[in-house]
Amino acid sequence: MSSIFSKRFDTNLRVAAVAVIVTLGGAGAVLGYLLHPKQLDTGYTPMQPVPYSHKLHAGNLGMDCLYCHTTVVKANYAAVPATEVCMNCHVRVREKSPKLQVVRDSYASGQPIPWVKVHRLPDYVYFNHQAHVGSGVSCVSCHGRVDQMVEVRQVQPLSMAWCLECHRNPAANIRPVEYVTKLDWKPEGDPAELGMKLMQAKGIKPPDNCSSCHR
Ligand code: HEC
Ligand code: HEC
Ligand code: HEC
Ligand code: HEC
Ligand code: HEC
Repeated sequence: MSSIFSKRFDTNLRVAAVAVIVTLGGAGAVLGYLLHPKQLDTGYTPMQPVPYSHKLHAGNLGMDCLYCHTTVVKANYAAVPATEVCMNCHVRVREKSPKLQVVRDSYASGQPIPWVKVHRLPDYVYFNHQAHVGSGVSCVSCHGRVDQMVEVRQVQPLSMAWCLECHRNPAANIRPVEYVTKLDWKPEGDPAELGMKLMQAKGIKPPDNCSSCHR
């Protein structure tokens, strides 16, 4: 994608440059290019230092996402849990398992487990979990059925086109806030109809101007 710009351009400049072109008009081609839904890192599944399984913990054991990802609803980030959270159970459960050696070492030393990040937006994109989760967008809309994944993988492209596709027509992705972490939840009727009602009631209107995501 960056081939249309010189590498010397800093990305903020590029965003500004495209904004200017868009404002001036003759932007069809540039925008069309930017909006082409390419499959970025879909499928990305890095090796993790511990064979931790969401399928086991969130699926079979039924643990709520927020037990470990407490900050998603409060802050603009969704950090992975501290080792202490694992040790709430693993001081007693499978306390000698070799698969948990890295966890025990981390607990003893105080050094965090070096989890490898799966999803990552470029630095010039502003993203906020709370704004989404608090409006009733479920984790499943962006991360898929994590509760069925042994290893977390990226299922959505996280491209600009992908963000905008939902921002322009979010209704089918809006549910009552109490179900955002119930990944298998389905409404009785048409999801878009319920979503539309919730959007009207709460005045939900996702932004599509450049400066909302590029600040
Ligand atoms: C017992 C704690 C625990 C629970 C419960 C849990 N997670 Fe996680 N989650 C982790 C850990 C540890 C990682 C980092 C290792 C990994 O990626 O597997 C992680 C990573 C993730 C990632 C990838 C983050 C990245 O690096 O980009 C996503 C997305 C995620 N979790 C979503 C969920 C969702 C959705 C739920 C509820 C269905 C959930 N998690 C429940 C502990 C938990
Ligand atoms: C609420 C309790 C609980 C929490 C919190 C918890 N686990 Fe577990 N974990 C379990 C149970 C129960 C099992 C399954 C034990 C079995 O199969 O008998 C398990 C199994 C595992 C296993 C497989 C062990 C083996 O020998 O097969 C790993 C690895 C693991 N957990 C990692 C983690 C990590 C990392 C965290 C923190 C992010 C975590 N767990 C948090 C309850 C928990
Ligand atoms: C609107 C889409 C969207 C929704 C809804 C969403 N996420 Fe995310 N999530 C993302 C994106 C995009 C990133 C990468 C953010 C970045 O790199 O700045 C991410 C990153 C993460 C990470 C890694 C953060 C880190 O600090 O390493 C975790 C964990 C996570 N999400 C969990 C969740 C959970 C749990 C939910 C539901 C309660 C959820 N997400 C809902 C899009 C979403
Ligand atoms: C599945 C639907 C969906 C996807 C995908 C999505 N969003 Fe959103 N976004 C929303 C909704 C709904 C809101 C809330 C609007 C409101 O409350 O008025 C929102 C709000 C926002 C806001 C405004 C938040 C604030 O604090 O002002 C930003 C910025 C944003 N999204 C960025 C992104 C980015 C960047 C991506 C892609 C990486 C993305 N969104 C993907 C649905 C989505
Ligand atoms: C809803 C959020 C959102 C909005 C609104 C948005 N962008 Fe983006 N933009 C993104 C995301 C996410 C990426 C990163 C995609 C990727 O990783 O390839 C991006 C990437 C870019 C890039 C970098 C392309 C590259 O490869 O270097 C440019 C330039 C850009 N946007 C310009 C714009 C302009 C101009 C507007 C207004 C017309 C705009 N954006 C509106 C989310 C958004």
